[in-house]
Amino acid sequence: MKNYKLALKATIRANSNLALIKYWGNKDPYWNIPTNDSISVSLDALKSTTKLEFGDDYKDDFILNDKLLTGEGKDRIDFVLAKFREFSRFDTPIHAESENNFPTAAGIASSASGFGALAHALYEASGLAYTNDDVSRLARLGSGSAARTIHPGYAHWFAGENHETSYAKQIKPPDDLKIIVAITEKSAKPVSSFEAMELSKTQSPFFVEKAIQSKDNIEPMLTALKENDFSTLGQIAQKEANNLHAVINTTGLGIPYWNARTLELMQFVNALRENENIEAYYTIDAGPQVKILCKPESVKPIVNRLQNLEVAQDIILSGVGNGSQVM
Ligand code: ADP
Ligand code: DP6
Repeated sequence: MKNYKLALKATIRANSNLALIKYWGNKDPYWNIPTNDSISVSLDALKSTTKLEFGDDYKDDFILNDKLLTGEGKDRIDFVLAKFREFSRFDTPIHAESENNFPTAAGIASSASGFGALAHALYEASGLAYTNDDVSRLARLGSGSAARTIHPGYAHWFAGENHETSYAKQIKPPDDLKIIVAITEKSAKPVSSFEAMELSKTQSPFFVEKAIQSKDNIEPMLTALKENDFSTLGQIAQKEANNLHAVINTTGLGIPYWNARTLELMQFVNALRENENIEAYYTIDAGPQVKILCKPESVKPIVNRLQNLEVAQDIILSGVGNGSQVM
């Protein structure tokens, strides 16, 4: 019989994802077990590509955007690696290189696509049998939002109670939703999502209320997705963003993520609906970028108006993505 040598390497391309129902805070921060379920859409324009190889001579180096990763970012990689080794008993060292095609640590969920790609690459390169649930759980240990990244289209992250029960499932394949990402600032955010989440739990008077509303918004969002009801999807998504920032902005960090252009863009999107009969909704995450949800026919008129407004440094047009894939 021919003796095949396993390659023990893999390249994964993973899309970032955008939460329509927001994750914010963990009931168990060690395992990233979230306070509430969340729902996301995969973004086809925002990608992390991670090449990973196992080899006895490697030293677990991780190169991110051409630089050797050190500090907190590397600690998070090492935690995922340690857990992978514990679960799989596969403990050969790695060498990995990853590139994001969009600004890193700026509130467009590079941690989601980055840790989604890493978790998928570890399982794929190891040659072990694995499921999407395994990848989702492992990705969650690097970054909560990464739990949702493996799935094409829309994903539902079930909060669960422990590592086994906290993972994401696909709800719906890609459809024709369009997402316009207006970049107002490319530099890294002043405070990480994880740190702001932990502070929110103890400091914000609205933390518990936001989580209750997110729980209540899950069923209506699932129905809106099932019925292709863009208006309900957009209204809930915008409310979720407002609730999230009501928490963040009352956490004792001042207003850590918005800038003046963020606010101008929020008003711009509301004015599209109210004054121009263009149906669009905004959502914002832990950063100053504004993501505009709209139908395909609205992309051109919105982008024309955005360009005239001159508040966005960059505009990224995205459709619904395909999750994470082996290249
Ligand atoms: P973002 O809004 O971009 O998700 P976070 O502060 O939550 O910002 O996460 C950014 C961090 O995620 C980076 O500092 C880095 O540690 C990690 N990260 C980003 N991209 C990758 C990647 N491709 N592979 C591994 N880790 C990544
Ligand atoms: C506002 O999952 O990026 O985007 O675990 O620190 O990486 P870390 O946090 P992360 O937080 C995401 C918060 C959010 C909402 C969401 O994506 O659901």
